[in-house]
Amino acid sequence: MEQFRQQLAARLAPYMEKPAEEVRSMMETPPNPAWGDVAIPCFTLAKVKRQAPAKIAAALAGEIDLLGLADKVEAVGGYLNITFDSSLVAREIISGLTREGVDYGNAKIGQDKKVVIDFSSPNIAKPFGIGHLRTTVIGHSLSRIYAELGYDVVRVNHIGDWGTQFGKLIVAYTLYGEGDSLVQDGVEKLFRLYVKFHQEAEANFALEVEAREWFRRLEGGDPVARRYWELFKEVSLEEFKRVYQVLGIEFDYILGESFYEPYLAPTIQEIADKGLAVLSDGALIVDLESFGMPPCLLKKSDGATLYATRDLAAALYRDRLYHPELLLYVVGQEQTLVFRQLAAVLKLMGEPAGDKVEHVSFGLFKFPEGRMSTRRGNIIFLEDVLQRSIEMAAAIIEAKNPELQDKAEIARQVGVGAIVFGDLRHGRIKDVTFDWDEILNFDGETGPYLQYTHARASAVLRKAEGSTGGELSDFALTDEYALPLIKLLGEFAPTVAKAAAFFEPSVVARYVLDLAQEFNRFYHNCRIIGSDEKVEGTRLAIVLATKTILARGLYLLGLAAVERM
Ligand code: ARG
Repeated sequence: MEQFRQQLAARLAPYMEKPAEEVRSMMETPPNPAWGDVAIPCFTLAKVKRQAPAKIAAALAGEIDLLGLADKVEAVGGYLNITFDSSLVAREIISGLTREGVDYGNAKIGQDKKVVIDFSSPNIAKPFGIGHLRTTVIGHSLSRIYAELGYDVVRVNHIGDWGTQFGKLIVAYTLYGEGDSLVQDGVEKLFRLYVKFHQEAEANFALEVEAREWFRRLEGGDPVARRYWELFKEVSLEEFKRVYQVLGIEFDYILGESFYEPYLAPTIQEIADKGLAVLSDGALIVDLESFGMPPCLLKKSDGATLYATRDLAAALYRDRLYHPELLLYVVGQEQTLVFRQLAAVLKLMGEPAGDKVEHVSFGLFKFPEGRMSTRRGNIIFLEDVLQRSIEMAAAIIEAKNPELQDKAEIARQVGVGAIVFGDLRHGRIKDVTFDWDEILNFDGETGPYLQYTHARASAVLRKAEGSTGGELSDFALTDEYALPLIKLLGEFAPTVAKAAAFFEPSVVARYVLDLAQEFNRFYHNCRIIGSDEKVEGTRLAIVLATKTILARGLYLLGLAAVERM
């Protein structure tokens, strides 16, 4: 629809005595589609012309000639409401989508630009818990949304594989864990060892001392320490990979915090050379008082570096290697200060990266207690949640459509889709309370509902055996069910751009829900197959365009577009 708004702006410009771009920027979308496609508030004009806005709107409505572009021009209150010529718009959108598919209207604003997205980033030797679901699905979706706009996206998994906790883990492993099969129990076993270390260390401080010593050995490159660490890493990555496989997620780089070890000293040196590093109680810090923030710690008094130090090195590394437009960090809002400090230090250093850091934060994912087995302690494993959802989807499919082929694979796609959409449907910042009945409801605002709608469109096209060509019928394009659906189809490209601008996959999620709803209205009210030939061809073209856009919207969110359900 954007091209019509642009055309309209050009046609209105002389009447409003403003450049077309300015007219375009004044346009709003009326809250009720029946009022029109575009509303232009005349309040700012009123100031210049010294007339009441309502009067200006009325005068404009009487004077402007939008022949061939608009059906209706109306002054309401201080607004000028304009409805586009329906057959022009519908015809253009359907033929555009038929011709160009998902690229229709996409200006590829990211061409020749890069964006680095840091997401998921779970921690070694800890379970891939439900706590890492949000960063994983939001980051994955954002990476696809940016790629859709033509950006070259670098997807980085910043695995937590460094820090003093590895000293603790080595102690626990050598004391209580060796000989056990890590292969079988994997991360769960490591996690138990970690918990046990903390219990034992409460009464026995010597353990803490020993742990620190082991970490020092690890930092010093000691081969024995190194071997333990490699083992823990391998076991953990194995589990992470399984989760990513179920979710269908890939990364360009899995670079743990440890990767930046060699860059830490030079980074600290650069900061020191710029006169920004200060000693405070034996620790090395960057003072951030001018930003109204607590200092950023670079090195503890015992010489150990920190999470933030590694992020500084990582940001410089990424910025200098890729020269991206943006450095995105999809991380929970509890780490807000870390990323504000990161940006602040980079700015003090005069680094361009300082203006590129964008913390894409999000609220908590709350799981109602008692609904997942506590077999594995009080951590909820993401893998278990996904598995449970897949089983529940399988049971529903078994009850509704036992004849379905490929049931297991479809259950996987639907089960995973339910979880992913159950998260992405919500604006990032809100906390999400997880509810099994809600996310799997085939009639609710859910992943399965969208996939079912997509399968429905696919079924219509299968039945029609592909006969969508031919001349379009104005009658079929502009009836009360087709027109709103088509206009919504025309909003796909601007919606993706908006989602990227706000780092908000939920914008796409909301869009596909609206699209599915409009399509189902159309489907229930318009006879598709078996109507007059030209009408049938037109309606099938609408179904095909819907299927194309719905499938793409689902893809952008990380859901599979299911052909049969
Ligand atoms: N591993 C961290 C955690 O689980 C998240 C890392 C996010 N990325 C970063 N560059 N700090 O909390």
